[in-house]
Amino acid sequence: MPQPTGAQTAADAPAEILAAARAILPWMVEIRRDLHRHPELGLEEHRTSARVRERLDELGIPHVDGLAGTGVLGTIRGGRTPEGRVVALRADLDALPLHDAKEVSYRSQVPGRMHACGHDGHTAILLGAARLLAERAGQLAGTVKLIFQPAEETVGGARLLVEAGVLENPRVEAIFGLHVDPGLDVGWVGLRYGQRNASSDNVAITVHGRSSHGAYPAAGVDAIVAAAHVVTALQTVVSRNVDARNSAVLTLGTIEGGTQGNIVAGRVRMVGTVRTLDPAIRELVLRRVREVAEGVAAGLGARAEVEIEPSYDPVINDNAMVEVVRASAVRLLGEERLVVFERPNMGVEDFGFYLTRVPGAFFSLGVRNREAGIVHPVHNERFDLDEEGLAYGAALQVLNVLGILEG
Ligand code: NI
Repeated sequence: MPQPTGAQTAADAPAEILAAARAILPWMVEIRRDLHRHPELGLEEHRTSARVRERLDELGIPHVDGLAGTGVLGTIRGGRTPEGRVVALRADLDALPLHDAKEVSYRSQVPGRMHACGHDGHTAILLGAARLLAERAGQLAGTVKLIFQPAEETVGGARLLVEAGVLENPRVEAIFGLHVDPGLDVGWVGLRYGQRNASSDNVAITVHGRSSHGAYPAAGVDAIVAAAHVVTALQTVVSRNVDARNSAVLTLGTIEGGTQGNIVAGRVRMVGTVRTLDPAIRELVLRRVREVAEGVAAGLGARAEVEIEPSYDPVINDNAMVEVVRASAVRLLGEERLVVFERPNMGVEDFGFYLTRVPGAFFSLGVRNREAGIVHPVHNERFDLDEEGLAYGAALQVLNVLGILEG
């Protein structure tokens, strides 16, 4: 059992919480570096999950294991008002299929695997926040759920954990998550009100024609010619159907069809992604993709089969919850170290699966350090983070929890 590090009152001042977080920074760094050396892909985070369970045991925090395979749910019940409110904090566990090109003592020991999105840091931060909260459990006016989630990068592990019931019994009333951001200096925080990340949908279009000898195209229906017209016509969905003040992305990333140069192709398959920020625009774009593909193909004597598979929910922050994070950041770091992003991000993040069910906020934690050369973007083979950011992250999450339980 680690030694307590700070004052034990619920009314801890931000400075005391930050001092307590700094005091356990070596412990968080050790956790983060261990995970960094041993990255695991989504749904395969067995070692990572075992490390989390060991740390929760060490802290005396009860936990439910094996959620979606590797997910862990810890629960801290406050001693002051056990029937109080319920807040959840979330970290993701998975790494990426990438080669670690950094020259550091803690570089990945697993070829082709790397924590290049900082989820090792997220896990260390959540354990740090758990330790600080567990030390104050007697004074807490409510319950804190600690969600360690698999597979953010692949299948949307958040959806699996929602289905496993992490938001119920007791029902979560507020949830906070963060992502390390190498675009912000360490000690800074980035906030976004409302829509933060796009939703995504996977689209597959199969154009069915009829093959014939390449010398006698009139005897068949050319699926390649029809597909070419479909691709071109789909460019009008965003440019002509979506109001210019809104945004959407339609990308077809693969196209394949045909068998040989002198055979008219009977079939072409194209796969792509749709990104939108607004549910009404999402519905419009998906409807138009279907109508345009089917209509254009039919006009050329072919048939388009359109399959749409919803992927990630949008990340839509609750503005009252963003205010809670803002208050924590201002008290901890000062107004001048706060950035409010003016635009949402067309990338996705599976935290949206929680936010479509529970009010909460997802925010950005600065980890850049130009002097130390820590400047590379996420998903880059030289990505790293300034570990001092782990202390800020843990302190911020503790203040967010207190902001709800004491608020
Ligand atoms: Ni990430």
